[in-house]
Amino acid sequence: MDLYEYQARDLFAKHGVPVLDGAVADTAEQAREIAERFGGHVVVKAQVKVGGRGKAGGVKLASDPADAAEKAGQILGMDIKGHTVHRVLIAQSAEIAEEYYVSFLLDRSNRTFLAMASVEGGVEIEVVAATKPEALARIPISAIEGVDEAKAREIAQAAKFPAELIDPIAHVLVKLWEVFTTEDATLVEVNPLVKTKDGKVLALDGKVTLDDNAEFRQADHAALEDSASADPLEAKAKALNLNYVKLDGEVGIIGNGAGLVMSTLDVVAYAGEKHGVKPANFLDIGGGASAEVMANGLSVVLGDADVRSVFVNVFGGITACDAVADGIVAALKILGAEATKPLVVRLDGNNVVEGRRILTEAAHPLVTLVDTMDDAAAKAAELAAVGA
Ligand SMILES: Nc1ncnc2c1ncn2[C@@H]1O[C@H](COP(=O)(O)OP(=O)(O)OP(=O)(O)O)[C@@H](O)[C@H]1O
Ligand SMILES: [Mg+2]
Repeated sequence: MDLYEYQARDLFAKHGVPVLDGAVADTAEQAREIAERFGGHVVVKAQVKVGGRGKAGGVKLASDPADAAEKAGQILGMDIKGHTVHRVLIAQSAEIAEEYYVSFLLDRSNRTFLAMASVEGGVEIEVVAATKPEALARIPISAIEGVDEAKAREIAQAAKFPAELIDPIAHVLVKLWEVFTTEDATLVEVNPLVKTKDGKVLALDGKVTLDDNAEFRQADHAALEDSASADPLEAKAKALNLNYVKLDGEVGIIGNGAGLVMSTLDVVAYAGEKHGVKPANFLDIGGGASAEVMANGLSVVLGDADVRSVFVNVFGGITACDAVADGIVAALKILGAEATKPLVVRLDGNNVVEGRRILTEAAHPLVTLVDTMDDAAAKAAELAAVGA
């Protein structure tokens, strides 16, 4: 789960990362009141879960409460890269002398944690990373040893912070590492981390991604969830305990096992090129595909208005193909009139002959049985193109 900047700011404050006062407003009038409380000089910041807000005009300085209200009025309702701004953060403004970049993240490809830091932070960090990679220090962090003051100083030195800043920056890094580990984050990023004109080090922007797999031990995190901005189908799938990710194509995908579903996305993407269609979602219904789970899965996928056909790709294992076939037949009964789009089913693996026999005998008008994955993908893509 990605957090809004104001939520990241709250977590930073909780763990002692230095931040400025801030509060969120969803109207210009509230923005004015908050700015009054903070003494007038504030920055008005669009709260959307996308980077580059500053460049898009979503971060504006205000010199007094009336100005804050006016800037909030301009930013609220703005569209930033497809995200509508419903709230703004009103934060005290800092007198910035230098902008830096620091982050901790889970580096999946190297199976480690990674610290990144640069003395050239700010809104151009992506350009710096691409054109001057040497200006962005990358230090692997051992999950067992973590980040103590010594490690934090090593990171600050690698990023070539000036000598007098090594200790204050290291101090902030230790606190950020505390946020990263105790909150079960996969990313904690501060851009910019600034030095103010009076020499203080402050986190002026924060990006935090929390690990959803740690929900069970992070009871507080449920409150951070933003059901309003979540995709309604993803929310429905989550409530049904399904591993579903909405994509923007037309061919609905249901499979058992994440690996099989990933390769199904690949073959459908390939087969779909000819027809101008793409996979509409990722949905892994897991090993024990009961009729109920299959019905829930179909209901979510068919609930996507963009879906024109559905490819059900199942490899029978412990749950054999006959059980899956029974599940599909029963699911179509449960769904009744809700099932309106063609289904292409490919079954293979344990008890495949019996599974295919069940589906053939049921002879449901929406179901086409295809033997191989490639042929099934081609058929599903073709049907999606016809239905478009
Ligand atoms: N509290 C503040 N006081 C003064 N200036 C600020 C403040 N917060 C942000 N800024 C300025 O605005 C710039 C952009 O703000 P910020 O980094 O929060 O948004 P952003 O453009 O969305 O960044 P990113 O692309 O990293 O998400 C900062 O680099 C900084 O120069
Ligand atoms: Mg930023």
